[in-house]
Amino acid sequence: MSCIPSIRSATGADKPGLMLLFNDCGLFEPGEVHLVEEMFDGWIAGRLARPDHRWFVAGDDAGIAGAGYLAADIMADRVFNLLFLAVHSRARRGGLGDALIAHGEVAARDDAGRLMLIETASGPETAAARALYARRGYALDGRIIGYYGKGIDKLIFRRTL
Ligand SMILES: CC(C)(COP(=O)(O)OP(=O)(O)OC[C@H]1O[C@@H](n2cnc3c(N)ncnc32)[C@H](O)[C@@H]1OP(=O)(O)O)[C@@H](O)C(=O)NCCC(=O)NCCS
Repeated sequence: MSCIPSIRSATGADKPGLMLLFNDCGLFEPGEVHLVEEMFDGWIAGRLARPDHRWFVAGDDAGIAGAGYLAADIMADRVFNLLFLAVHSRARRGGLGDALIAHGEVAARDDAGRLMLIETASGPETAAARALYARRGYALDGRIIGYYGKGIDKLIFRRTL
């Protein structure tokens, strides 16, 4: 039997756990977490208006263990972005990151998605994410040099759905 927590659509009640996750996961500086909090609030308030944008979460006994945000690209032909992929440090290397990406891919395909893009920063702190994307069949398809600062590039990974 798998011990990967089940993944479901987020609700407003998930916000405190989500913020704990984002404070833990290393994706953001302490002063940046409020930006994702505002995005989450906006999604909760208007999610019926954008059904092709969705937050999803996985809970374990201690709270929210992982999350991701799937967003259709408005100006493209059936392209989706998977953003804010995060697994709490207590829950890593158990397959949840892989399951969260798989969940996003299924949801995008259900919406007739053709391509999935995942962006991340270069540098050692995202090495785990890059290894995960490569294992799931994502290819590095774009690089914006210095996007996140001197020597830190934006990397764009792509997979056909
Ligand atoms: C990247 C992240 C989501 C992976 O979550 P996870 O649940 O630990 O990943 P999984 O257990 O599903 O790993 C699946 C595979 O990815 C690769 N992988 C994951 N973490 C790795 C690591 N630290 N080093 C090397 N490979 C790694 C492995 O191939 C792994 O399979 P294996 O465990 O059988 O060897 C998690 O480390 C994380 O939240 N990191 C901080 C936030 C971040 O970088 N987010 C993505 C950028 S936007």
